[in-house]
Amino acid sequence: MSPKNKSDIGQIMIQRCIHLARRGWQATGRNPMVGAVITHRDRIIGEGWHVHFGGLHAERNALNNVSAQDRSLLKDAHLYVSLEPCNHHGKTSPCTDAILEAQIPKVTIAALDPNPLMNGQSVEYLRQKGVTVDVRDDVKSATHLIAPFRAMQTYHRPYIVLKYAQSKDGFIGQTGQQVWLSNTWSRWATHRLRGQMSGIMVGTNTALIDNPLLTNRLDTNGHPRRILLDRTGRIPASHQVRSDQHRTLIFTTVANYKKDRYREVITLTSTQWSIEIILQGILDQGIYSVIVEGGAALLNDMINKQLWDQCHLYKTQQKLKEGIKAPILRGQLIKTIPLGSDNLMIINRL
Ligand SMILES: NC(=O)c1ccc[n+]([C@@H]2O[C@H](COP(=O)([O-])OP(=O)(O)OC[C@H]3O[C@@H](n4cnc5c(N)ncnc54)[C@H](OP(=O)(O)O)[C@@H]3O)[C@@H](O)[C@H]2O)c1
Repeated sequence: MSPKNKSDIGQIMIQRCIHLARRGWQATGRNPMVGAVITHRDRIIGEGWHVHFGGLHAERNALNNVSAQDRSLLKDAHLYVSLEPCNHHGKTSPCTDAILEAQIPKVTIAALDPNPLMNGQSVEYLRQKGVTVDVRDDVKSATHLIAPFRAMQTYHRPYIVLKYAQSKDGFIGQTGQQVWLSNTWSRWATHRLRGQMSGIMVGTNTALIDNPLLTNRLDTNGHPRRILLDRTGRIPASHQVRSDQHRTLIFTTVANYKKDRYREVITLTSTQWSIEIILQGILDQGIYSVIVEGGAALLNDMINKQLWDQCHLYKTQQKLKEGIKAPILRGQLIKTIPLGSDNLMIINRL
C-alpha cells in the first residue's frame, strides 16, 4: 500500500528515523540514540544516525550521506529527525548550524530535547532563521527511544524499569524459597526486555534464594550488565553471579571483596550505602538503563523514593495464600498485554 498523503509520508519518515536511531543501541553511551532522514519531494536523498558516543550527530551523518549530484536539492529538502537538533558546541559543532549551512528549508522533529536548558531552543533558533519547523512531540516511539537520556537529564540517574510477578492473591513469593509464578510466555517477555536494558539488578535476598543467572537468553541483543548488591558479603562465591563468565558489577561494604575479570567491585562505606548512591555508581559505570527484578524490599525502597520510570507487572493465576506481599505502586496503566494465563501490565510513574 502506498502512502496516501503528506502526513502518512511524515509518519513513515519519522519511523525510518527511529529505525535508524536504534542502530546506535549500546554505542551512543550517555548520548541519546538519534536518526535522521533527508527527503526531496518524498524521495530519500540522505539518512544517518548517531553511530557512537563522541561521533557525528545523526543530522550531520545524514547530510554527509547526500550524494554529490543531490546536494543542489538540499535547498528544497525536508529534514526529519527523531530528536531536536543540538544548538550548542559539544564534541561537535551545533547541528542547527549544519542545517542552516545546508540551507534546508523544512525540518520535522519527533521529540524535543528533554534537557530543561535546551527544550525547544533549537526550534526557536531555526524558526528565527526562516526555517519551517514542525514539532510532533507526540510520537511514542520517539519518546521511548530517548527514555534513558530523559532520565539522566531530568533525574541524574539511569532509566529504571521495575519488573515483578505477583500471584492472584497479591504475593511475589514465599519467605526463604523460590516460587515460579509466571508462565513461559512471561519469561520470554522478560528476556526480551532484558535485551533492551543495559543493566539488571535484584535485591540481595533474591540473589541468595533464587541464585539467578540474570542474562538474556531469548535474542541476540546481548546481556544487560548484572548488578549485585552484597552489602555484608552474604552471597556465596559459588552462586552464578559470582562464579560464571558474565560480567557483574558488585556493590558491597566488605573490604577486599573477591573480584576477577568478570566481576568489578565498588566498595562503599556503611554510611554511604543507599540506593541513591548505588544508582549514581551504576550511572558512572556507563549503565544508562536498569531493569530491577525484585524482590519486594528493594522494589519498595525504590517505589517509596520515586526511583522508577516504568513497571512491568505480571499478574498471574497462581494463589499462594501467604508469603511476601507484592509492592503496591501508583502509576498510569499504559497497556495490558495478555500472555496466555498471565497478564503483563505496563505502568508508567505519574
Ligand atoms: N515474583 C517475583 O517477581 C519475584 C522477583 C524477585 C524475587 N522474588 C522473591 O522475593 C524474595 C526476596 O524478596 P525480599 O523482599 O525478601 O528481598 P530482596 O528485595 O530481594 O532483598 C532485600 C535485601 O537486599 C538488600 N538491600 C540492599 N539495598 C537495599 C535497598 N536499597 N532496599 C532494600 N534492600 C536492599 C538488603 O540486604 P542486606 O541487609 O544484606 O544489605 C535487603 O535485606 C525471594 O523469595 C524471591 O524468590 C520474587
